[in-house]
Amino acid sequence: MSDTIFLNDDWDYSPVFSEGLVNSSGTDGMEKVRLPHTVAVTPFNNFSAEIYQKISLYRRFFDTDEAWNGKKVLLTIEGAAHQSTVYLNGRELFVHNSGYTAFTVDLTDHLAPAGKRNILAVKVDSRESLNIPPFGFVIDYMTYGGIYRDVYLEIKNPVYIEDVFVTTKGNRFNSQITLNTENIPAGLSLHQKIMPSVNAPIVGDKDNPCAEITSGASKKISLTSANASGITQWSIDNPALYTVTTELLGDDGKVLDTKTTRFGFRDIKFDETGFYLNGTKIKIRGLNRHQSWPYIGYAAPKNMQIEDADILKYELGLNEVRTSHYPQSQHFINRCDEIGLLVFTEIPGWQHIGDEKWKNQAVENVREMITQYRNHPSIFIWGVRINESVDDDAFYTRTNALAHELDKTRPTGGVRYLKNSHLLEDVYTFNDFSFHGPNDGALHKRKVTDTHKGYMITEYNGHMFPTKTFDCEAHRTEHAVRHAKVLDTVAGYDDIAGSSGWCAFDYNTHKDFGSGDYICYHGVMDQFRNPKPAAYVYQSQAESSTTGDVLSVTSGMDIGEYPGGARGNVYILTNADSVKMYVNGIFIKEYTKADSPYKNLPHGPILIDDYVGHRLVDEDGIKEKHSKAMKTMLFALQKYGLDKLPLKYLVKGLSLWIRGVTNPGKLRSLYGKYIGNWGGTAITYKFEAVKNGKVVKTLIRTPPKEVRLKMSAYRTALREEESYDMELVRITASDENGNLLPYCQEAVTLAAEGEIEVVGPKAVSLKGGCTGCFVKTTGKSGKGVLKATDWTGRETKLEFTVEKNRSV
Ligand code: GAL
Repeated sequence: MSDTIFLNDDWDYSPVFSEGLVNSSGTDGMEKVRLPHTVAVTPFNNFSAEIYQKISLYRRFFDTDEAWNGKKVLLTIEGAAHQSTVYLNGRELFVHNSGYTAFTVDLTDHLAPAGKRNILAVKVDSRESLNIPPFGFVIDYMTYGGIYRDVYLEIKNPVYIEDVFVTTKGNRFNSQITLNTENIPAGLSLHQKIMPSVNAPIVGDKDNPCAEITSGASKKISLTSANASGITQWSIDNPALYTVTTELLGDDGKVLDTKTTRFGFRDIKFDETGFYLNGTKIKIRGLNRHQSWPYIGYAAPKNMQIEDADILKYELGLNEVRTSHYPQSQHFINRCDEIGLLVFTEIPGWQHIGDEKWKNQAVENVREMITQYRNHPSIFIWGVRINESVDDDAFYTRTNALAHELDKTRPTGGVRYLKNSHLLEDVYTFNDFSFHGPNDGALHKRKVTDTHKGYMITEYNGHMFPTKTFDCEAHRTEHAVRHAKVLDTVAGYDDIAGSSGWCAFDYNTHKDFGSGDYICYHGVMDQFRNPKPAAYVYQSQAESSTTGDVLSVTSGMDIGEYPGGARGNVYILTNADSVKMYVNGIFIKEYTKADSPYKNLPHGPILIDDYVGHRLVDEDGIKEKHSKAMKTMLFALQKYGLDKLPLKYLVKGLSLWIRGVTNPGKLRSLYGKYIGNWGGTAITYKFEAVKNGKVVKTLIRTPPKEVRLKMSAYRTALREEESYDMELVRITASDENGNLLPYCQEAVTLAAEGEIEVVGPKAVSLKGGCTGCFVKTTGKSGKGVLKATDWTGRETKLEFTVEKNRSV
């Protein structure tokens, strides 16, 4: 049997490493910390990487339990950035050289006697000068530092199950079991049982062992079962998960070890016609994710990882995420398994390939990534090249060979910016930044590669159009439109398996990138996961069963926001069947999918081309037969303004004038009445999203009378389990109709009472009408209140409960 003991609490931390502290009890200059931990709480922006680059020390005491006699004691650190040296009782035991993968150290032979105290110390080097991936050149993301994922001990019998790797084909189940030793005593046997886990109905023979084998002398044992009848395959819409429990039995039938492995039955295939999941073609629609947040960097516990996956699936309606540019938290990927979000994961790296030692580490990273993540059904491809590096056939022959050896069921990819580069992988995965606005949204596959293998776009947009929540409306709209354009182009090309855009969330970056404030404003959401208009382009591509009913309009409808009052194109973003538009209560038009210029998308942005409806005839004495032409003129005026009216509209206007339908004066007054009249009364717009004949959502745009501060969180019931709990709180200013106020940049002060604390600054400004903060549990159960006081002194509260449910 094995026990897991989490060691996330009670660490002593010193920001400066000293040999003297490794085996000492002194706590001078040390701070008590809990994991996940960051070596530097960072500002929102305007800081340099220097602040987290250091060699620091984590130290923790634990007693050797008498029950551990004759057992193996294994320490696992799920993630520490970037080089870790583990010491037990003063003796150096292990050095691990990647900040993005887990490692396990056998402590058994170095433990203090039963009942005595051990001193566990971890030197963590977070300097970017290390000769390991991703370091060696510039990097467009901050790499932070610290032990930022879970740490635990496992207590095992001397012979135990080191690994179970499950593969499936249809309803066939296969597993490769690895024991920890070659010296397997005679008489051991293995026994497995499959059980439904999440979203899965009961398996046919659930109470029977799937397979049973008496072990031979080999460390690796394969068990195959054809007995998994009646299973449900894992898919995006129904992510059915199973567990297989593997028991190692002694010759007396006693259970020596048990390992429970969660997996899904699913088949994946890439070919030149696209990507197939269980034989069904799926257009991949994803975004890239960095695992960072403001202030806390990488150090986010389980629930925040889970919520990030939920945001991608349920708020952005994605079916895929690329974990750019490194393996991410198991909690995050577990959640992707549970909710049906495909994952493209890859080894750490950014453009640079280092020397032989560096490359050996990159190959080791392939091994660690695949052995640690290969039971996740959500992972559909391994990225085995350094992101955007040049061809290096010798190096990439090694990474591909190892990936194929370790996992024969998944294709390899490797993200490149090069066209026609050497394809040693199974899928050509390409960052297509060709789109810059007026041109096609993406290159055709044959312009990039002549391979007959699968093809996928792994990045687009990003630096081609950085966009802040507080940019002007035209800019934010263009950002949304650009994402729609690429999605539409990709959807129209049958041989592009899909795309992952750059990127989901804004992120802190190095001095060499970003907007000069150490942020890349490339996200469709800001760093606090507040949506920009582009987010609704993604959200509206999913059906309401996933993202709810979506209704958003890219404009606040204020002409004063635009030079000369020319508002340009305005789009409705919705997944409804239709949207009815009203102006000052008068019905204008019911828009449907047919009104979208983006014909390949399930729910392309709909262009608003009519602000007038039947009113010209009803109210202004225009004849029915001239109404359409007049509306076209008014729409052109709203889009281009009078001064920049294209010739064809000038000609049209002239012809209407000559025919006596209108004249410049009349046109101007109609424009004022229907579109916007500088100096006139503002118009109220109402939009109703209709689904199955019913209004499911309403949106009103009218000049705001009130500003309301709102705080929202996924969960207010916090729970301490393996560690502290933390919650992202989004803070927004909106009007009385719930519309975000994008130019509200006021200050908010934050305070916590009870069993929560605020992480980060206690005074923040709204940026583009939104910001956020994090609340963290204190280690005690009880209640907590987050209070935000706005610039007028008004207080808004969010109440939390904290439960302690420690499994340690
Ligand atoms: C790519 C790179 C990403 C990010 C992006 C910005 O070249 O792979 O990490 O820097 O550009 O658009």
